[in-house]
Amino acid sequence: MKRIVILISGRGSNMEAIVQRCADEGWPAAVVAVIANRPEAAGLRFASERGIATAVVDHQTAASREAFDAALAAAIDAHAPDLLLLAGFMRVLGEAFVRPYEGRMLNIHPSLLPAFPGLHTHRRALEAGCKLAGATVHFVTPQLDHGPIVMQSAVAVRADDDEQTLAARVLATEHVIYPLAVRWFVEGRLRVEGGVVRQLQGASQLLV
Ligand code: GAR
Repeated sequence: MKRIVILISGRGSNMEAIVQRCADEGWPAAVVAVIANRPEAAGLRFASERGIATAVVDHQTAASREAFDAALAAAIDAHAPDLLLLAGFMRVLGEAFVRPYEGRMLNIHPSLLPAFPGLHTHRRALEAGCKLAGATVHFVTPQLDHGPIVMQSAVAVRADDDEQTLAARVLATEHVIYPLAVRWFVEGRLRVEGGVVRQLQGASQLLV
């Protein structure tokens, strides 16, 4: 049984989708803890109602970035995770934090990486006149929103889209691709070769 720890900053809808699919589909895994960097993160409530351990490591009360990263790592390691997931976790993590989890840490980012790392992805995609938007699940490396790509979803941009409508359509696809990518990980169906992720059964790593 693989132990999953999920980091959130707010709503936590991707975390919810993963908890739900893990239970519904009987993955060989369990979400053992949900940790937030904000005490008011709405997703904490869902997790505790499900009987999942929750914790808050508040970045605002940390003495420094390094102290925050160290406190966060301690809170995570208390649950001995096999897999660490960033699900709308909006803090940049330092290299010293990331290294010990490399190869067992995933993130979801609301753009077709390597396009638009960072914030305000949908606004930037619209401003650039992109006709295609989407989301990416990737292994985390010390570089922000970068790392071997496990799965992507692509969404057509409509002429009348604004940031909210585009974000909502992309988010609906996030709730499909993130649980699927996590399932593949816990079932041992992913291999990273030369920076490229292969799904060992040849399943499509693109949702369109
Ligand atoms: C999601 O759209 C996720 O892709 C994005 O934040 C949202 C969180 O929603 N993550 C990032 O921008 C990370 N760079 P959620 O809290 O409902 O899952």
